[in-house]
Amino acid sequence: MNIILLGPPGAGKGTQASRLESARGMVQLSTGDMLRAAVKAGTPTGVKAKAVMESGGLVSDDIVSGIIGERLDMADTEKGAIFDGYPRTAAQAESLDSLLDERGRQLDFVIELQVNEDALVDRVTGRFTCAQCGAGYHDKFNLPKVAETCDVCGSHEFKRRPDDNAETVRTRMAEYRAKTAPILPIYEARGLVRRVDGMADIDDVTAQIAAILDGRD
Ligand code: AP5
Ligand code: MG
Ligand code: ZN
Repeated sequence: MNIILLGPPGAGKGTQASRLESARGMVQLSTGDMLRAAVKAGTPTGVKAKAVMESGGLVSDDIVSGIIGERLDMADTEKGAIFDGYPRTAAQAESLDSLLDERGRQLDFVIELQVNEDALVDRVTGRFTCAQCGAGYHDKFNLPKVAETCDVCGSHEFKRRPDDNAETVRTRMAEYRAKTAPILPIYEARGLVRRVDGMADIDDVTAQIAAILDGRD
């Protein structure tokens, strides 16, 4: 099964994708995570992407579709992919169709996380992750069970994203409204779109997605 998780910054795409990975053995393909890894490693892609990401703008379609294509050539993605943060423009949606088609795969669902934008600034500015394993947390909504200790790997080191400040989040949301939300009708016409209430508790959102994937909704 191959699915897209679609929603604005802070909607919960990454949170739900990593839960689906653990629960179903699907593979999370987050272009944001891939780009951040490229920035950290200082690759040519990373050098190009860094300033754009820090401003909250979108990296070029060619770059992101290129990295998704390379990732889809790795065998683990045959078990099923969760596209997290990709596609984000109509051109990327077209590229994804070709990339899947060339590999004899297809999209099963596009799951839209419906959220109230006003609540998202809080979610994004409160977010932090484990520096060792990448597990995601939040200052108010999702603290580690033992203070300052990662639930997953026990590390005491955490980090925050440079683009998670209130001003950049507003730009990222504007980009979502202008360029990403307009791709929904493309998938709507193909009958692929399912909607979940992204304002519900994290566990509840997970249950809503499970119901869709299991054909109970
Ligand atoms: P990317 O990394 O994709 O960021 P984003 O789309 O802005 O989304 P986020 O990662 O901020 O949010 P999320 O939906 O994953 O939320 P999360 O689960 O963490 O992209 C970053 C940048 O890279 C872009 O701005 C762009 O420059 C570039 N880029 C990436 N892909 C690109 C592409 N395809 N094309 C061009 N450029 C691209 O949740 C947020 C917080 O809320 C967490 O702390 C979590 O614990 C908490 N939370 C989650 N769900 C709930 C809930 N239900 N209730 C309460 N709290 C919750
Ligand atoms: Mg994310
Ligand atoms: Zn960890």
